[in-house]
Amino acid sequence: MPSIKKILGLSLLGTAAIGVGSYVKARREAFQFKKEVVPVEIKTNGTGGGSKGKTLRILHLSDLHVARNESSSKLSFLQEITDDEYDLVFLTGDIFEHDESVLYSPYLLSRKPRLGAYAILGNHDYYEYSMSRRILGRIFKNWRHPDGKKVRNLDRLVDSLDGCGYKVLRNEAVHLNDDKVSIIGIEFPGVPKDELLKISEKSDKDHLKLALFHIPKELQSFSDAGVHMAFGGHTHGGQVRLPGIGAVITDSDLPRKNACGLVNQGDTVFHISRGLGADPRTNFRLNCPPTAYVIELSVT
Ligand SMILES: [Fe+2]
Repeated sequence: MPSIKKILGLSLLGTAAIGVGSYVKARREAFQFKKEVVPVEIKTNGTGGGSKGKTLRILHLSDLHVARNESSSKLSFLQEITDDEYDLVFLTGDIFEHDESVLYSPYLLSRKPRLGAYAILGNHDYYEYSMSRRILGRIFKNWRHPDGKKVRNLDRLVDSLDGCGYKVLRNEAVHLNDDKVSIIGIEFPGVPKDELLKISEKSDKDHLKLALFHIPKELQSFSDAGVHMAFGGHTHGGQVRLPGIGAVITDSDLPRKNACGLVNQGDTVFHISRGLGADPRTNFRLNCPPTAYVIELSVT
């Protein structure tokens, strides 16, 4: 009969082997980029009637976290996925992890979408995060983000995105009158509800109202602002999803089961992206592959 010491030793060895195996798998999965097609039907109840009967093909990208030494696999995927015919391309924040990452901006859009490409900035565009802040920020809410004085040079990021074909929406809206579509872009850290209502009310009642945001927080405001569909990211889908538990960490107002995918709240449909990257120091994914979404939106 084996001694307790031997049983304990074997158990420890087994646990360590599972841990190493999971880590290797998770590092590999972080570079297994996927495309997911998501059909969505929007009912225009009294507003957005001008878009009734139309369909829009929208590419939703998020959380690229392009690093200063970005992998060729992510850059090639971005080039390929954007080299297609879309009505719109949306990029919902956490685009450039480092200041030098802007050198890769030409990889972010291969073909101009019919109605344009639009981006908003996320918290990782605003700040570079130290590892201690990443860990302590998970425990202490006040530590979540750096001091407001440490904001990066956002003009440089905006200019780079503009140069590669994205219009960056900084708490403002664009109105595509010919197609009866309005797009509201709210960057990190978000705006108070009355400001969102002010931005929103400038759009024609006939327009389909779409919105971009980064962190899924206070989502009811988008519904109150009459937004038909809103696109966000930040959660990375939890990055690590355990069987029977799902997403471990989400940093979102939504329940863990809504760490990614479609969510209905009020009269608004939300699409939360798993994103295509993460902070390079913690870029591992388990049962949560990096994903670009093609939203096939039909307005009825
Ligand atoms: Fe992110």
